[in-house]
Amino acid sequence: MDVNEVLKFADEIVFNNTGKHLDDLEQSILRGVWQGHKYSKIAEESHRTESHVRDVASELWKLLSDKLGEDLTKSNFRATIERWRFSIVSSNYSKNFVEINNVKVCGEALQSPKVPQDRSHDVRNPVSPRNRVSVDNAPDVSSFYGRAEELNILKKWIVEERCRLVAIVGISGIGKTALAVKLLERIQDKFEYVIWQSLRYSPSLEAILRNLIQFLSDRSETDLPVSIADRLSLLMEYLRKSRCLIILDDVQMVLSSGQLAGNYKSGYEDYGEFFRTVAEFSHNSCLVMNSWEPPREILPLKGDTAPIRSLQLNGLGLAAVEILREQGLVEEDKWEYLIDAYAGNPLWLKIVATMIQELFRGKVSEFLKYDTLVLNEDLKAILHQQFNRLSELEKQVISRIGNESVPVSIYQLLENMQLSPSELFNGIQSLGRRSLIEKKEQSNETLFAVQPVVRQYVKTQYAGNDG
Ligand SMILES: Nc1ncnc2c1ncn2[C@@H]1O[C@H](COP(=O)(O)OP(=O)(O)OP(=O)(O)O)[C@@H](O)[C@H]1O
Ligand SMILES: [Mg+2]
Repeated sequence: MDVNEVLKFADEIVFNNTGKHLDDLEQSILRGVWQGHKYSKIAEESHRTESHVRDVASELWKLLSDKLGEDLTKSNFRATIERWRFSIVSSNYSKNFVEINNVKVCGEALQSPKVPQDRSHDVRNPVSPRNRVSVDNAPDVSSFYGRAEELNILKKWIVEERCRLVAIVGISGIGKTALAVKLLERIQDKFEYVIWQSLRYSPSLEAILRNLIQFLSDRSETDLPVSIADRLSLLMEYLRKSRCLIILDDVQMVLSSGQLAGNYKSGYEDYGEFFRTVAEFSHNSCLVMNSWEPPREILPLKGDTAPIRSLQLNGLGLAAVEILREQGLVEEDKWEYLIDAYAGNPLWLKIVATMIQELFRGKVSEFLKYDTLVLNEDLKAILHQQFNRLSELEKQVISRIGNESVPVSIYQLLENMQLSPSELFNGIQSLGRRSLIEKKEQSNETLFAVQPVVRQYVKTQYAGNDG
């Protein structure tokens, strides 16, 4: 029997009875004892005193002995476990059984009347004081302003309404990653497992499933099913057994360029099945994804009452003044104009503030004297990334809308473009999903417009290309 299986088994018992997972020292004790080490060596390796290790170990043996109905000590621990050769058939202790020598033992015999039952499954929103977290890949977000409403909505969807899949969608730089980091800080104690994965380098679904399963199960690589379908069904088992929070950042990196929004890159189509399965099948976990555009699967599934939601992230509004302050700009009375012009996009504002700082010693009025909206190379590079993904149809539509100084209706667009209504509808819908055009209601008519930065980009890049 592998020491990881032993640790997992012990962790199940401890978690079931105390609501807490084994901590690092408890794990070191069990691992050390299993390998025949003395307490003094375990103490030395864990940088604790020997007497502290003995105290913690004694509590652990007491708890395990109580639950297993057999006197467990340091000296008989391994032999007892080997003799039993137990295997865990379920990590969900609400089912209350473990398998010992292939005999299922009802959990009643394993439970002490004094200790609480498995809180993670008995109550709607478990608190896991010692949950397992893997968020090393998440960026550090030191300053963060506004977004109180968005955080409340997301928390409500995920914690209270227990949504299974939540998409945070918005243009590059709008603050999806920063928001997800802050969300994580607020809600991670409601989950037993928390993991952050970025898809920035377009990993295969196979690799992502391997990472997720290994994190949730401690299985070794050789112990994983080979086929994607089997990996997915194994992952779903873990998502049912435990309350897990998975955050997938940069999901647009597995979506395609040159087609309408929401399609997959060639070779990444199996992500669709993954998202659909997580969204449609019942489980206890939540997958949060950040993307420039929503993957196609989730659009028909989302709804106010469905456990699948999508949050369109817009500009930061006046909270962005704090970003400008942080960047050292002066003349505060001009900041609101700047925020409007750059659509409250935190990244765009940081870029423009850096330029104002470098060229005009932070004086916004000097920058605003030049009446065209300035897109420097840094900002253009970001916009290129977004626009390079557009299909030819979308490029035609956005250059047409971007060259208008006022919002336009579908009727007006159809008059001036050689597109069929269905082509135009598809193009507009797709650009909307990419957050590149905005809808406005005016005298009972729906009009379409682009933000000033997008208009400026379209004018300079697509001059004369208005279909
Ligand atoms: N609410 C906020 N307050 C302060 N700074 C913010 C806020 N939101 C985002 N930022 C900053 O703006 C920049 C862009 O944010 P972030 O990386 O989260 O955007 P994003 O939407 O994830 O972009 P991309 O889609 O390109 O990954 C970062 O420097 C981030 O720290
Ligand atoms: Mg991001």
